[in-house]
Amino acid sequence: MSISIPAGLTELLQGFTVEVLRSQPGDLLEFALQYFGRLKAEAAESGAGGGSPAPGRERGSLAPRRAPTRGVSFAEEPLQTDSESGDEEEEEFAAPVINRFTRRASVCAEAYNPDEEEDDTESRIIYPKTDDQRNRLQEACKDILLFKNLDPEQMSQVLDAMFEKLVEGGEHVIDQGDDGDNFYVIDRGTYDIYVKCDGVGRCVGTYDNRGSFGELALMYNTPRAATIIATSPGAVWGLDRVTFRRIIVKNNAKKRRMYENFIQSLPFLTSLELSERLKVVDVIGTKIYKDGEQIITQGDMADCFFIVESGEVRITMKRKNKQDVEENGAVEIARYSRGQYFGELALVTNKPRAASAFALGTVKCLVMDVQAFERLLGPCMEIMKRNIANYEEQLVALFGTNMDIADPSA
Ligand code: CMP
Ligand code: CMP
Repeated sequence: MSISIPAGLTELLQGFTVEVLRSQPGDLLEFALQYFGRLKAEAAESGAGGGSPAPGRERGSLAPRRAPTRGVSFAEEPLQTDSESGDEEEEEFAAPVINRFTRRASVCAEAYNPDEEEDDTESRIIYPKTDDQRNRLQEACKDILLFKNLDPEQMSQVLDAMFEKLVEGGEHVIDQGDDGDNFYVIDRGTYDIYVKCDGVGRCVGTYDNRGSFGELALMYNTPRAATIIATSPGAVWGLDRVTFRRIIVKNNAKKRRMYENFIQSLPFLTSLELSERLKVVDVIGTKIYKDGEQIITQGDMADCFFIVESGEVRITMKRKNKQDVEENGAVEIARYSRGQYFGELALVTNKPRAASAFALGTVKCLVMDVQAFERLLGPCMEIMKRNIANYEEQLVALFGTNMDIADPSA
């Protein structure tokens, strides 16, 4: 059965939404009555017979359109659905957005097989957005690794389907053990990550005004693996489970085909089981750098780890004088090519970046965020720490000091 959307419904609801956001009425129902009553009267006057107004058309006192104030949250229901085929999708459309209060039945540990994923139709969920919202959404999503391998059409479907959710300080955005409803991209705010071990919750990390979470339960059909608590007022962009699986999980199947052999061949990942290596592929994103482009800046705070897929990366370091001030002139200390990694040191030692990295020619890197690095690469730490000891020796040979790069407690 297909879903048929009456002509004009989209524009009608969009127009109404814009006016609600603009006017912020206390009584929504009353406002709706007046709004639609006025539309009907205008249509009768102009002889249009109740059709919906064209988008952006002047509507007496209701026009012109104006962007709402920052932080307006859309309703829990999508305001527009656009179904281009959609037979198999109908079940999902009965409850297109699943929130914390309307959870789906338990879906624990279904086998992960994206090729069998049923949601192959072009049914789309679209949340209309103001210019301000669209700008903020684009900014929040530009570095999200899970989105890096999407083509422009897939990316635009993802952005359309995302909805803004305001959060209060102390609010649990996700609770460990729950079923997965949405994937979240942070617009603003700080969040703690708690993982329960033997019944005791431990804070294992934080998000600071950027990043994303909530992908694991949706990718692997498992209960939520952590609790995410807002530590300030903030906002996140939600992407519903159906759209996430239809686009991101499908795309991950392609990514696995592209990168499985490469990841298997990396010596520093030998301590990982096959299934763990595939999970690495699932969370990485690809980034391309132009010749000379800076990939890492010495002294910056770190939030990701890099594996070179192609091209060459030059690592340089500025030495510090006795007053801890950087001296001019960086020295090249290493070059990395296909299959080698960099950017792990700051994540392991929890210090700023110890050196800078630049692209030599065009460089393609696989990038992993710090949360995935910590979650997935624990078994590879021994190998990485041995390399860090080599860095220190190298720096002593070059600068006569180990530059204090490694935390002795690490
Ligand atoms: P999910 O299991 O869907 O919901 C909780 C989210 O917390 C999880 O997806 C990850 O996105 C995120 N997360 C961050 N760090 C961890 C961690 N160490 N273990 C598990 N989940 C984590
Ligand atoms: P990070 O400090 O996160 O960012 C700069 C990276 O340069 C660092 O991690 C290492 O991966 C890499 N690097 C290569 N050689 C050295 C070295 N001798 N000392 C420190 N970092 C090095």
